[in-house]
Parts: sequence; structure tokens; C-alpha cells
Amino acid sequence: MKMLKDEILSKGIVLSEGVLKVDSFLNHQINPVLSLEMGKEFVSRFDQTSFTKVLTIESSGIAPAFTTALELGVELVFARKKKSLTMSDHVYTADVYSFTKQETNTITVSKDFINESDQVLIIDDFLANGQAALGLAKIVEQAGAKVSGIGIVIEKSFQPGRQVLLDAGYNVESLARIHSLKNNQVRFVDETVLV
Ligand code: G4P
Repeated sequence: MKMLKDEILSKGIVLSEGVLKVDSFLNHQINPVLSLEMGKEFVSRFDQTSFTKVLTIESSGIAPAFTTALELGVELVFARKKKSLTMSDHVYTADVYSFTKQETNTITVSKDFINESDQVLIIDDFLANGQAALGLAKIVEQAGAKVSGIGIVIEKSFQPGRQVLLDAGYNVESLARIHSLKNNQVRFVDETVLV
């Protein structure tokens, strides 16, 4: 997606060979115009109208998931990383290990918001090791619903997440696929060196 790649190139900061900082449009400050375009792009990539729900995880997944849900005309659910005060035990949970942060979070979704007739589109901001997306998929499957696609804003293709999700049988679409962050350069999977 050209608009996203341009934003990565103009505003992304390569922190190391493994980490790209995109706080100025995705992870802290949010570019709403880009977010709207991302929602449209996800819907066009999956090219189907059968989704009944969008699922993401707080916090940075919410903006692109919201615009995708808006475009599809369905509701968005976000998994919580910490149980909220008002949440009962009527929940689905999954443990998500973050290799980046070396910690496990138990993510939670109320049973009220996903049911067995749902066809769910999972959206997340980054794909690194695939653990967050797998955790969300586990929740969908606990509900007896179907994961009909996984949409990722920025995929770090030099990490195993994409293959993990493909091996698990999911359909994955990423709006920007990063081949490497070596030498302080963002190199996309299409091999074009920019920056
Ligand atoms: P995984 O889900 O693919 O296995 O990823 P991992 O555990 O490695 O990532 C944990 C957190 O770090 C996630 O955010 C993920 O989005 C983020 N992350 C991973 N690699 C990068 C990167 O190169 N750049 C940036 N900016 N973030 C990265 P989170 O902790 O859930 O944050 P948030 O959604 O609350 O903002």
C-alpha cells in the first residue's frame, strides 16, 4: 500500500535491525486519513463481504480495525490485555507470549461479543512472531466462530510470524511487508531500497 509505505519512509525511525518506530502515525499519534485508507485497503484485499466482525487487540490495533469495521459495516471488538473492572468471568482468554517484551499477557474478550455464527477478520498493527494474532485466533475458535482472515498493517517479514500464521492455515494480508531494517534502511519485500 503506497500511502503506508510513504508514511513509513518519511516518518518511521529504524531503532535497530529488529525494531521500527512508527509512533508518529500508528503507535502513539494516529494519522486518521491513513487509517481510513487502511480500512478500505483491507476490505479490498480480502475481497469478500462475509465478515460479520472485526477483532483486534488493544491498543494500536484499534484504529486500523475500527476503519476496517466501518468499511465492512460490522462491529469491532478489541481484546483487552488487562481485565476491566466491569468485566465478569463470562470471557474467553488466551495467553500471548511476547518475544519482543519477554512477557506473557492473558488477553480477554467477553463471550457476549463473539458467537459461533461469526466470521471474523483479525486486524493487528505489527506482525513479528505471530503470537498476538494466534492468541486472537484461539479466542475466535473458543467461541466456535471462524477466522476468515488476518490483516496486518506492518509485517516484519524477516521474523517468523507470517509463516507461523500460514502454517496454522490462516489467510494473511499485510499492507506493508518489511524485508529488512539493516543499515538504518527500510527495505520492503519488493526489494526496492528507499530512504
Ligand atoms: P507478535 O505478536 O507478532 O508475536 O509480536 P511481539 O510479541 O514480538 O510484539 C509485542 C509488541 O511489540 C506488540 O505491541 C507489537 O505490535 C510490537 N512490535 C513488535 N515489533 C515492533 C516493531 O518493530 N515496531 C513497533 N513499533 N512495535 C513492534 P504491543 O505491546 O501490543 O503495543 P500496543 O498495541 O499496545 O501499542
